[in-house]
Amino acid sequence: MSSRVSPAPAADVPSPIDFHDPAQARAWEADTVCKRPSRPRFFERIAEAIRDGGRRPAILELGSGPGHLAEHVLGTCSVGGYVALDFSAAMHALARERLGPAAERVEFVLRDFRDPEWNTGLGLFDVVVSQQSAHEVRHQSRIPAFFRSARAATRAEGMFLYCDSYVMPGGTLDPQLHVAQDDQPRLLQEEGFLAVTLLHDEGGMALYRAINPG
Ligand SMILES: C[S@@+](CC[C@H](N)C(=O)[O-])C[C@H]1O[C@@H](n2cnc3c(N)ncnc32)[C@H](O)[C@@H]1O
Repeated sequence: MSSRVSPAPAADVPSPIDFHDPAQARAWEADTVCKRPSRPRFFERIAEAIRDGGRRPAILELGSGPGHLAEHVLGTCSVGGYVALDFSAAMHALARERLGPAAERVEFVLRDFRDPEWNTGLGLFDVVVSQQSAHEVRHQSRIPAFFRSARAATRAEGMFLYCDSYVMPGGTLDPQLHVAQDDQPRLLQEEGFLAVTLLHDEGGMALYRAINPG
């Protein structure tokens, strides 16, 4: 009799930050603004891709955090709807504070995108976007499942905009947590996305547009 043993699931790479803690959420925000001066350029490339999409899209942002991207997109694009999904109420509070009256245009959803059922009842979106949040699945082996679930939330011919840091030879990022540069487009293609296009690459972080063929 053959005994088939499934490989043990990879252990989480521990996060140095508790995003649920309001003080740590605020500290992350201040720190990332300092450490990543390139972020506004990524936001603008994302907004350009949304405008080029040519309709008033329904947008879902995964791991929306303190609302920096939402602020840029709502201020520069004609948007049909904006769902900000995060598992941290502290992050949603920061986003509400940042957006002010524009927060009325955002539906804030408190969910964990590692839960296989996270997209239940949310419907389909013209645009799904994740900015520096895919690695929060806390192990690079789970990135394909993250892409699969993002695709499942995207309408046919809709787009997934994926931005995250990648591992560089001799760099400081943990290869258990982050994927290599070449693996970013490869994994998107393996999960069935088409027309995978690099939109911006700066400071060890890359933004891709990928189309869900349906
Ligand atoms: C590195 S921050 C990026 C925030 C935002 N995208 C930005 O660039 O400003 C990661 C965000 O993902 C959220 N997050 C982490 N793990 C999550 C999970 N399993 N489900 C949903 N959100 C998660 C955190 O609360 C945090 O807001």
